Amino acid sequence: MKVNLTIDGHKIQAEAGKTLLEVAQEAGIHIPILCHHPALPPEGACRICLVEIERQRSLQPACTFPATEGAVVHTRSTKVVETRKFVLEMLLTDHPFDCMTCDATGNCLLQDLVYEYGVRTEVYPGAHHQYPIDDPNPFIQVDRNKCILCRRCVRACNYINGVDAINVVYRGFNARIAFGADGHMVQSPCEFCGSCVAVCPTAALYPKMSVGKGRAWQVERIQTVCSYCGVGCQLILEVKDNRIVKVESAWDGPVNHGWTCVKGRFGYDYVQHPDRLTRPMVRKYLLEGTPRPPDRGEWVEVDWDTALNITARKMRSARDVYGPDTIGVLTSAKCTNEENYLMNKLARQVIGTNNIDHCARL
Ligand code: SF4
Ligand code: SF4
Ligand code: SF4
Ligand code: FES
Repeated sequence: MKVNLTIDGHKIQAEAGKTLLEVAQEAGIHIPILCHHPALPPEGACRICLVEIERQRSLQPACTFPATEGAVVHTRSTKVVETRKFVLEMLLTDHPFDCMTCDATGNCLLQDLVYEYGVRTEVYPGAHHQYPIDDPNPFIQVDRNKCILCRRCVRACNYINGVDAINVVYRGFNARIAFGADGHMVQSPCEFCGSCVAVCPTAALYPKMSVGKGRAWQVERIQTVCSYCGVGCQLILEVKDNRIVKVESAWDGPVNHGWTCVKGRFGYDYVQHPDRLTRPMVRKYLLEGTPRPPDRGEWVEVDWDTALNITARKMRSARDVYGPDTIGVLTSAKCTNEENYLMNKLARQVIGTNNIDHCARL
């Protein structure tokens, strides 16, 4: 069913059941958001998306209010703009003004809106929280001083990862996010998927490995596929000076829709690790064809032909001397179907064993 409404003077026909925010976005009309995220159910917590609807007594949040037949909506009236500005001023009553050193600078919804609405100073000075930044987990920096209580993280943990490790505890000025039974993240059911980090609009939740590694405008964003397992999650790598500095969610990834596990989100340091093998290596005695020394001797770098020839020679000798079932073949979910099929042929027909398995079953 369709409904007809007017937004900022534009006559629009929309699907019934959509929110005013969705309809406005489809029509190219900008309405600011903070607590809303397209991958999460709407919450209506921050009130930055308030709009004026004729015949409604008060301003309504566009992210939760449905598009209705005949509605006449104003998204930029003086009342709307002044109210949004007030919302921002209230948020800044307990938010540090340290954008110069904040890692989210250039990628912070709050910073963008404060700039857009011309809030220049702390209009309502008062008490500020001084939360310690001391969560000892290895992956996520928790800075509650920068939290605007939008609850995106709460919903991401619940709806994206299905874990429910985060909640908001206490009320009023004392309200803050908490993990599990209000302990550190490692004491909660958290699986360190990083979904909460991906949706946090400020630097309240930020990857520890990315702190100080590059501003939003200094990094190149490259969409790719996670190299760990056969799920094939899509990721966005942020790269600076040819080094990966952060992993962001690829919300349009067809298999993971922005989610990753801990490996995909935080396990990228192997790519540029100095210990990473970048060429095949063999034991020196194998290269020289001499008897194996007690400590098996040193490793030497070789080309692929040499490494594969040595491997084939040793496998043939193991099969001939000890029998084919002393050899096992383990294939990978990161190989193509064709490659796995060929490994199956190698195991069963060339080596003569049924000892073949696949990492997806581990
Ligand atoms: S890292 Fe994942 S599991 Fe842990 S709190 Fe964040 S969303 Fe929840
Ligand atoms: S930690 Fe971030 S996502 Fe969670 S409530 Fe605070 S500002 Fe929102
Ligand atoms: S993010 Fe995790 S689940 Fe997804 S492909 Fe990588 S390892 Fe697999
Ligand atoms: S974005 Fe609508 S209430 Fe927060």
